This record gives sequence, C-alpha cells and structure tokens, in this order.
Amino acid sequence: MRARTKAGNPLPADTRNKSESGLVRFLIFGATGLLGPYLSDAAEAFGTVVRCGKNQGDVHCDATNPSEVAALVSHVSPEVIINCAALTDVDACESDASKADRMNRKIVAAIVDSAPTDAVVVQISTDQVYPGTNAPFEESCIDPINEYGRSKLAGEREALRHPGALVLRVNFFGPSRTPGRMSLSDWMIKNLVSGAPITLFEDSEFSPLHLESVARFTIDAVTHGLRGVYNLGSRQGASKAEFGQALARHLSLDTGNTRRGKSTDIPGRARRPKDMRMDVTRIEAALGCAMPTMCDEIHRLKL
Ligand SMILES: NC(=O)c1ccc[n+]([C@@H]2O[C@H](COP(=O)([O-])OP(=O)(O)OC[C@H]3O[C@@H](n4cnc5c(N)ncnc54)[C@H](OP(=O)(O)O)[C@@H]3O)[C@@H](O)[C@H]2O)c1
Repeated sequence: MRARTKAGNPLPADTRNKSESGLVRFLIFGATGLLGPYLSDAAEAFGTVVRCGKNQGDVHCDATNPSEVAALVSHVSPEVIINCAALTDVDACESDASKADRMNRKIVAAIVDSAPTDAVVVQISTDQVYPGTNAPFEESCIDPINEYGRSKLAGEREALRHPGALVLRVNFFGPSRTPGRMSLSDWMIKNLVSGAPITLFEDSEFSPLHLESVARFTIDAVTHGLRGVYNLGSRQGASKAEFGQALARHLSLDTGNTRRGKSTDIPGRARRPKDMRMDVTRIEAALGCAMPTMCDEIHRLKL
C-alpha cells in the first residue's frame, strides 16, 4: 500500500510504504512546549501523531526514565520520532549541569536506545552549540561556551548513534500556543503593548525562523529523507535590537519604552554566544529552496 498524506497526496519516497494504514506514525517528545504544537500540526498532514509531554499531551512520560521511554516507543511503534523535550533555560543549565545532562543528553540516549532501527529520529538542537564569534556558522563550527550548548551538543551525539538520525539546529519566535510559555516575540509584543521598559540587545545576533516555518521545514526534511546535521534558520540575521525594531515597525507599535543595550549589562546570567547566526546553505541545497529572511518571518506576526 502506498502511504498518502491526509490530503491524499503521495508521500515522498523516503516515507512511503512505511505504515500499513497508509499514514506515517509520528511520536513527538516535548510536544507540549513552544515548538511541539507547531510540529504536531505540520506532521498531521502526513500521518497520525502521538504527542508526549511530561505532564500534558496525549500521553505523559518522564523521558528521563529510560524504561518509560522504551515502553512508550514499543507501544506506539513510531516510524518518525521527533524530540523537542529539553531543558531550554540557559541559566538553569548553567547552575545545574547534571540536570542539563539528564534533560538534554540522557533523554536523547533513551530515545535512541528504544527507537526501531528503521525509524527516523529527529533531534531538535540549537544555535548555542556555536561559539558566538566568526558567524555565520557552518555545521562543523561547533564550540559551545555554556552548559546549555554543551549538553545539547552531547544530545546531538547521542542522536547520531541512530542510523536514521536527523539533527536540526534551530532558533525561533512566534506566538506560543502553550499557556505559561512565551517566545521572544511574545515577550517583546507584550512589553511594547503595555509600555513596560525593555532593553533590546544590540550585541546579540541570531537568525531565527517563525515557529510555523521550523515545523514545516522539519517535516519537509523528514519527507526528503535528510539524515545528519543541518542548520535550520533564516537567511541572514540581525541583532535582537534590530529584530525588536523591525517587529515594532511591522506591528505599528511604539518603541518609546525601549532602550538599546548590551546583553552583558545584565549581571548574573550564564555566558551566551554573542553571534549565533547560522549558514543555511546546506539545508537550502538539500531541500532545493531558499530559506526565508528574518524580515519575511517577522512579517508573519500578527497582533
Ligand atoms: N525556546 C527557544 O527559544 C529555543 C531556541 C533554540 C532551540 N530550541 C530547542 O527547541 C526544542 C524545543 O524547545 P521549546 O522551547 O519548544 O521547549 P519547551 O517549551 O521548554 O518545552 C519542553 C517540552 O519538554 C517536555 N518535557 C520537559 N521535561 C520532560 C521530561 N522529563 N520528560 C518528557 N518531556 C519533558 C515538556 O513537557 P510538559 O509541558 O508536560 O512539562 C515540554 O513539552 C528544544 O530542543 C530546544 O533546545 C529552543
């Protein structure tokens, strides 16, 4: 039987003939955070999706417990596993390296150890595996400078033990669909609308995509049969100050409450790479399309 999307279109070669029902079975860990709900929606066009969170989602599982992961994977028998479960709080990683390792490496190890060998295992990673100088970074330029980056890189290495591993290094913004979770753009919009004073960092550069684009390109990468490590970001990039100004211009919000400053002005924070812009040439070639620019992506935001 040929697998088809729910809309009736045939799946690309790499994901065809995988599921007897004709639909690909996805299992998403960390489905209840910022990115997970967008990935779930994008995956639904191609198959059935089981959303796993620690406390929310279709199924609950403490993924730091390998036997819970093994039982869930055996029960769902997924063809594509996507892992978004992580400790993303950079300062929390720095103050508790053992927790960072448990969340950002050991969860990935448990997934890889229980995943069928013919499955695709997508590990969502970060631009913080790069050192922060001499950007934009190609995929080989890894040299993390904080515990978050180090633990995420260790997670990538666990993922790459699996023959079907696809590691995507991302950064993103866009409207959170999860109560209690706010993206950078949510935070900026909230403060610009309320008039609360905020500092926009001019010494911190990145090349993020809208959450919808990360999700769409992730599923595109799976259906194109990509394996290995890829940067998944916007073309070009800018400082967070330029990002905030462009967002405010696009949404016609007053920037009178903002000041430009440096990330290092805030004491007590973990070190962060200053320039995290990624070179997206490799994924553009693999998918046969140009990544959007950061401005294109900002223009997708609505109030
Ligand atoms: N946020 C960013 O700006 C950013 C930037 C670059 C890269 N990334 C990467 O993108 C990925 C997704 O990030 P995100 O911001 O969407 O994450 P998030 O909002 O912090 O969500 C984390 C998810 O992990 C789940 N989780 C936490 N502990 C767990 C456990 N012990 N067992 C199972 N699940 C657990 C949470 O479930 P509950 O809700 O049930 O607790 C939630 O679904 C991560 O790999 C991150 O490193 C994020």
